[in-house]
Amino acid sequence: MTVYNIALIGFGGVNRALAELVAKRNTLWERELGFCLNIVAVSDLRLGSVVSPDGLDPRMLLQANFAPGGFGRLSGGRSQADNEMIIKSAPPDIIVEATFTNPKDGEPAVTHCRWALKARKHVVTANKGVVAFAAHELNTLAKAGGLSFEYEGAVMSGTPVMRMAEKTLIGTRVMGFEGILNGTSNFVLGRMEHGMDLSSAIKEAQALGYAEADPTADIEGHDVRLKVAILANELLGASLKPKDVACEGISRLSSQDINTAINESSRWKLVGSAIRGKDGVVVGTVAPRRLSLQHPLAAVGGVTNAVSLDTELLGSVTIAGPGAGRTETAYALLSDIVAIHADRSKATAAA
Ligand code: HSE
Repeated sequence: MTVYNIALIGFGGVNRALAELVAKRNTLWERELGFCLNIVAVSDLRLGSVVSPDGLDPRMLLQANFAPGGFGRLSGGRSQADNEMIIKSAPPDIIVEATFTNPKDGEPAVTHCRWALKARKHVVTANKGVVAFAAHELNTLAKAGGLSFEYEGAVMSGTPVMRMAEKTLIGTRVMGFEGILNGTSNFVLGRMEHGMDLSSAIKEAQALGYAEADPTADIEGHDVRLKVAILANELLGASLKPKDVACEGISRLSSQDINTAINESSRWKLVGSAIRGKDGVVVGTVAPRRLSLQHPLAAVGGVTNAVSLDTELLGSVTIAGPGAGRTETAYALLSDIVAIHADRSKATAAA
């Protein structure tokens, strides 16, 4: 039986959801996936850190005191977040990076991932900032060390858009994509179609927990811009930085624009897209677009995300599913660990 020792960096909603899955499903995973997970360390800027080379009981972690410095009261705990020591120290095989997304430069999560790979640990993350700003550097570092750096959850949480394009659709080139990549703005547009004004719809999205801490990132397209850069680099082999993606959000759409579209059998959607031109240059864009009701993205409602891939041999292939959520994103991290396990098993069989 393979046991992976994991360290959780950040203990917000996503890594707590992963700890919940470990508590409930480790035995099932042993049977069905061929491995189980042993949490040997957790670190969180607010809560502090806790380490046990033999493993921490996930149920105990979930019942910890979540006041600032609360981990200091646990055995093996401290009220400070010892990220560097935990990432570089011996016990973990895999670092699960789930700190906050920094949309400006991806830090400090980029540094966490760099430390981990240099210390010869595999890394899984759902952090958009890390992947949008540093995927190339971190992939190179991982490859040089024979390690894995996996990040399915950076776009559309556990909905496997990157693995579908890279693994399932292998053999047919992806020439471009267009997608609904932000649940909040899609939800807001839907509420506006039902007569609500923009600011009330944003408040509702915040109350339901969909919006980013600063909803400007959702409404003005900045969140989608990160995701377009990630997908363009990953699926189209581009080298786009988020600032290279032209970006316009939905704040300039009026109720009249929304109603006119409905009366003319169409609807507004915030679309993130990228296309490889004949000259080989990849151009990424985020903009509101009026889609006819026949368009595969037009029927995607609420907070659901979807991406239509333009493929060489199959034409348009669309995948739709959750784009956010604690458990949905924790599932993405699990799927990344499954990918690491498959790679390790293949390498062991070949040796
Ligand atoms: N605020 C984002 C959304 C979360 O609404 O889709 C996922 O990136």
